Parts: sequence; structure tokens; C-alpha cells
Amino acid sequence: MKKRSIAIDGPSGAGKSTLAKRLAQELGFVYVDTGAIYRTVGLAARRRGVDPADGEAVAAMLPRLSVDMGYGEDGLQHMYLDGEDVTQAIRENEISACASKAAALPAVRDFLLEMQRSAAREHDVIMDGRDIGTVVLPHADVKIYLTAKAEARAERRYKELLERGQRADLEQVLREVVERDRRDESRETAPLRRAEDAALADTTGLDLEGSFRLLLGIIRERLDV
Ligand code: DC
Repeated sequence: MKKRSIAIDGPSGAGKSTLAKRLAQELGFVYVDTGAIYRTVGLAARRRGVDPADGEAVAAMLPRLSVDMGYGEDGLQHMYLDGEDVTQAIRENEISACASKAAALPAVRDFLLEMQRSAAREHDVIMDGRDIGTVVLPHADVKIYLTAKAEARAERRYKELLERGQRADLEQVLREVVERDRRDESRETAPLRRAEDAALADTTGLDLEGSFRLLLGIIRERLDV
């Protein structure tokens, strides 16, 4: 049977992963976090002392890199770099910028494209990222562009870091969010943008429950699930 796919794109901190994870559970779909895949490449560059913005150096690193995605007994997505489980390591704050820089490189996007598409061939997926509806799964059954004001997204990210026991400064987090948006939106290859046929969902001022209901409604209008 043809697999079904739901694409959720949008800037960092809009709540994509939290919401997509919950929606996947509700609908019995597999959640694919594509940001985690870019983060794994960002981590690889950092560990090897390669500048993640240096296209030639990163391209030279890729053929020797083993990046794998798997699902643990917990049903959650795990990332493996050269066989090592790096699911936690890729969440460090400093890896966000490395991932965003590496993600701007066409060689990196090409390298990771097939991995994402093959997940959608094998499972009913709810996949989140920046270019899922535009590039990775242009024929997705449902496309959602999830966003919120930068200040609201920075505040969520700030709280998330504190909850993880990491030190954070709200002003600094906001600057990073704005800078990452700018980089993700202005890059030449697969920039962050709303697909023409994507439903727009703005979660500024909505809590998790409200956002979840909003997305579930959009999905059920378009897909019999
Ligand atoms: O969603 P995230 O913060 O974990 O993503 C990390 C970086 O990866 C983000 O700055 C943009 C990039 N990314 C991308 O370019 N395309 C995707 N499909 C997913 C993430």
C-alpha cells in the first residue's frame, strides 16, 4: 500500500519536533526528525575540526562518514555517527550553529536526501524540517508550514535549555534564533520557505495543547486518519 506522508516545515523553535512526535503517536505514523540528521553532520565536522561552513572541507569529509538513523526500543529516532549513538550529543547548543552552516552546503543536502526519502517509502511518516514540502517530499499528502514570532520561539528554546540544565541567556538565544532564521532562509540551496500548497499554522500565543489541536485539525481535513 502506498505510504502516507505529512511534511512539517518551519523555522527553529516553532514547536515542530514536539508536535510532530505527538502527532505521530496519535496517528500511528513514524516521526522523522530531519534536523537531527543535519545535526549529526554538524557534529561530525566539529569533532574532526572541520569548519562546517567550508564547502570543500566538508565535502571531502562526507565520503568517509557513516550517518545512520534507527528506531530504538523506545520507538524514538536515534542517530548514529560512525556507529556511535549520538542522539544526545547532537542536542548541545553549539551544534545548532554547526548544523545550520553545514545544511547550507549542496553537497551535504545531496548526501542526506536519499536517507530521508527512503524513510518515507518504508513507513507512513510525519517528517519535520525546512525543505520537506518543497524538496524532500514534494508530493506529501499534507504539508504544514509551522511558525511563530521569533520572540516566542526564543523563549521556548530558552526554557528548553534551562530544563536540560544548560546555561542560557534569553537575549543571546533570541540573537541566535534570528541569525539561524536568516541563514536558513537566505541560503541558495533548499532555503526555508513555505511550499505553495502548505497550510500555514502560526502558534504564537498558543500553548502545546492548542497547537496540537490546530495541526490535528489541518491533517484530518486533508487525510483520512
Ligand atoms: O530542526 P533543527 O534545529 O534540529 O535543525 C538543525 C539545522 O538543520 C537547522 O539550522 C536547519 C537545518 N535543517 C535543514 O536545513 N533542513 C532540514 N530539513 C532540517 C534541518
